[in-house]
Amino acid sequence: MENTLEQIKNYTYQLLKNDTTGHSMDHIERVVAICKQILPTEPQADSFVVLAAAYLHDTIDDKLVEDEAAAAKELHSFLLSLAIDPKTCQEIMYIIQHLSFSKEIVSGKGSLSISGKIVQDADRIDALGAIGILRTAYFGGGKGHPIYDPSIQPVDYTTKKDYRRGSTVINHFYEKLFLLPERMNTSFGKKEALRRKTFMEKFLEEFYLESAPLENPTR
Ligand code: ADP
Ligand code: NI
Repeated sequence: MENTLEQIKNYTYQLLKNDTTGHSMDHIERVVAICKQILPTEPQADSFVVLAAAYLHDTIDDKLVEDEAAAAKELHSFLLSLAIDPKTCQEIMYIIQHLSFSKEIVSGKGSLSISGKIVQDADRIDALGAIGILRTAYFGGGKGHPIYDPSIQPVDYTTKKDYRRGSTVINHFYEKLFLLPERMNTSFGKKEALRRKTFMEKFLEEFYLESAPLENPTR
């Protein structure tokens, strides 16, 4: 199992090593580490499936690969080539294809197994807290979004297919990140998501205080 996971990790590394959207290997390693914290609290989960899906969860995402279907096919063949049994391969594929918030918005909450729920929680936890703030700024900067503009209202993307477009870095907190705690699956995940959200609210208090002189910008 150790060796198979090493090969899986290397597959991800080859695909994500040049990522500049906040989905590079450090994000993957944190998601894996958070899964390892959740696993002992959810003994029904399959730890191999959890860790494999955690390593692979961003490798077929359309924001990182051009052709999602082709990437999925290639990944499935790779998993089979590691002599992982076909049923387990299918479970891993299902999890990573139904994990993301955008998929949940577009196609409704999938029926994830407890293993999938753990990976989803870990991915969401890494979107929150101090790391979440930095990843959001990094992503928004890459997209050319303003940091903050009080004249731009947050958009309700929960009903929109293009929710990822985003408006400003600060608005992304309201457009997505603060919606995550109530959507967590495990009790570990819910508690940690709330803790991180509370920290982000504190951060925003300070942010608004420092931004107060800008509330009525002259244009
Ligand atoms: P998911 O895969 O769950 O749909 P994404 O991969 O789109 O989520 O988002 C992962 C992280 O990337 C977010 O938590 C956030 O930090 C950043 N991000 C995504 N979309 C935006 C956006 N519009 N503005 C700022 N950051 C974003
Ligand atoms: Ni991720």
